[in-house]
Amino acid sequence: MKVLLMNGSRREKGCTYTALNEVASALAENGIESEQLFIGKAVMEGRVNEIVQEAAAKMKECDGLVVGSPVYYASATGEVQMVLDRLFGVARADLSHKPAAAVVSARRGGTAAAMDNLNKYFMISEMPVVSSCYWNMVFGNTPEEVMQDAEGLRTMRLIGHNMAWLLKCIEAGKAAGVERKTEPAAKTNFIR
Ligand SMILES: Cc1cc2nc3c(=O)[nH]c(=O)nc-3n(C[C@H](O)[C@H](O)[C@H](O)COP(=O)(O)O)c2cc1C
Repeated sequence: MKVLLMNGSRREKGCTYTALNEVASALAENGIESEQLFIGKAVMEGRVNEIVQEAAAKMKECDGLVVGSPVYYASATGEVQMVLDRLFGVARADLSHKPAAAVVSARRGGTAAAMDNLNKYFMISEMPVVSSCYWNMVFGNTPEEVMQDAEGLRTMRLIGHNMAWLLKCIEAGKAAGVERKTEPAAKTNFIR
């Protein structure tokens, strides 16, 4: 099994990368593969469609998703939101029913709002949201500072352990014939 770790920072090897690495190490401890996809630079260079196609192709093969973002102006980055706006439009079938988690990194404030931004994509797509022992955040302006955030790092590792546990439960459920019921779409627009 494999999990895609999306890094929405403009800094490839910064704080978000450091947080996602901690998730990856816990996944690996549980025998789950992972891969980081750095999207920040591509979006800055105007290659949104290219990165969306790449993420969509990877999600066909992956069983879970972790989206990481630094906090920019008390929100997830514009870059990650741009990619997710498009990705959740074109690749919903490859995202639905796969466990997902949001991870944010900040120097000081805006973490809860940024997490809320990201979790909303999962919650409209029938993705089980993986939680941890605290809200999924690390603090720091540099990777070295993040490495001093022992509670944040533990929170990241528990996301990895919980994601692995849920993936294995889903696999065991499928093998045991557990059925997931669905319903036809019903769209009610708020018009008079
Ligand atoms: C444009 C910009 C806006 C930022 N806004 C915030 C903010 O609102 N709150 C905060 O705590 N940190 C803010 N920061 C700091 C980053 O969130 C923080 O340093 C983060 O850990 C960087 O992660 P990265 O190394 O993965 O990019 C901002 C940084 C940038 C570049």
